Amino acid sequence: MSTHSIALLAGDGIGPEVTEETIRCLNRAADIYGFSLKWKKFPFNAEYYLQHGTALPESGLDEIGANDALLLGAIGDPRVPPGPLEQEILLRLRFHFDQYINLRPALSFPGIPLPVGIPEGTRLDVVVVRENTEDFYMGIGGSGKGACRTPIAAKRGLYSLTGAVETSMPEGMENAFSLGFMSRPGVERVSRYACELARRRGETKVTVVSKANAVPHLYGFWDRVTREIVAEYAGLEYVPVNVDALCYLMVRNPAGWGVVLCPNLFGDIVSDLLSGLAGGLGLAAAGNIGDGLSMFEPVHGSAPTIAGTGKANPLAAIMSGAMLLRHLGRTEAAAAVDQAVEAYLLSAMPRPVEQGGAATTAEVGAMVSDLIKK
Ligand code: NAD
Ligand code: IPM
Ligand code: MN
Repeated sequence: MSTHSIALLAGDGIGPEVTEETIRCLNRAADIYGFSLKWKKFPFNAEYYLQHGTALPESGLDEIGANDALLLGAIGDPRVPPGPLEQEILLRLRFHFDQYINLRPALSFPGIPLPVGIPEGTRLDVVVVRENTEDFYMGIGGSGKGACRTPIAAKRGLYSLTGAVETSMPEGMENAFSLGFMSRPGVERVSRYACELARRRGETKVTVVSKANAVPHLYGFWDRVTREIVAEYAGLEYVPVNVDALCYLMVRNPAGWGVVLCPNLFGDIVSDLLSGLAGGLGLAAAGNIGDGLSMFEPVHGSAPTIAGTGKANPLAAIMSGAMLLRHLGRTEAAAAVDQAVEAYLLSAMPRPVEQGGAATTAEVGAMVSDLIKK
């Protein structure tokens, strides 16, 4: 029997709870479809950071990289100020393995009410293709008082970036900055991915999100390169939209956007917005995809206020697990997991708490697992 080796980083908050249910469902799908999954668990999270002073040692990256795929729960804990954990674990994994696509489908489910109606009998089916290695996520920046010289060092799959930023300011005046940065190959590859996906989905357009009116250097470049690439694909229309207008328009009309190509930061925001419009963050799956190790994780975070209460909806993690199976070529098993989620949401069984029901995290996982069929 063939075996896939899967790295598991359960992480913080609800991460361990939702990944446990994902493992349950994926193991069941593997059983039914005649393969096996070997789970390799990694302890990197807030607790590990508080104990060791480092969140993810270099050796951990190598060990994780030795697997066929990575399943991640969520990272982030109120005991650690925002930033270091997310950067040292989550963003570091995305950059180290050059996972340049963050694929975030927003799909509604029959039987799950939406906050904004869509035409009768249709489904909200939009996919955010979020650039995942550049933009304001470069980690380049600094803060200080008065004049400053800040060295720059960032390493990506495509390049190493070095240099410095020198600023001259009135002495003693506190200041801070972050640099957004993009490269032509970085924008080209995500644009091509979005176009290929749009073709596979039978779309006639790609929606391209920007904000070049306020940030012309960075997003003007984004506009120029994305437009060039979309023009290479006959039959695909380039539909530009500013991110502020898009948020407004999506709330008025959530469906019909097709493939939504976003720079990193806007993609983060737009995917949470769409998950709300599609029925809940607990239903939003995602994959960080690259040419090396890919990582699958729900769109949501560690939701610390509901951790340990059984209120976390594991369906986003379970469907991220289905994306993982599809990535491994286990297409039928992946479809069986997705179908089990749909069958569960259509059934009269108790709904997740997030969708107004009383089913706990583990109960949801068990019901979905039981519905996985050949
Ligand atoms: P969050 O996604 O954790 O939570 C936002 C809201 O959605 C909260 O009300 C939460 O209770 C609810 N929610 C989220 N997932 C849910 C689920 N599966 N079922 C039911 N309700 C759910 O975002 P936040 O509050 O901004 O962040 C909390 C922590 O998570 C922070 O440390 C943040 O940095 C981190 N975070 C991590 C990731 C990740 O690991 N990929 C993503 C987003 C946020
Ligand atoms: C996400 C999260 C991360 C991001 C944070 C935790 C760094 O919000 O995966 O959507 O901004 O990418
Ligand atoms: Mn986010």
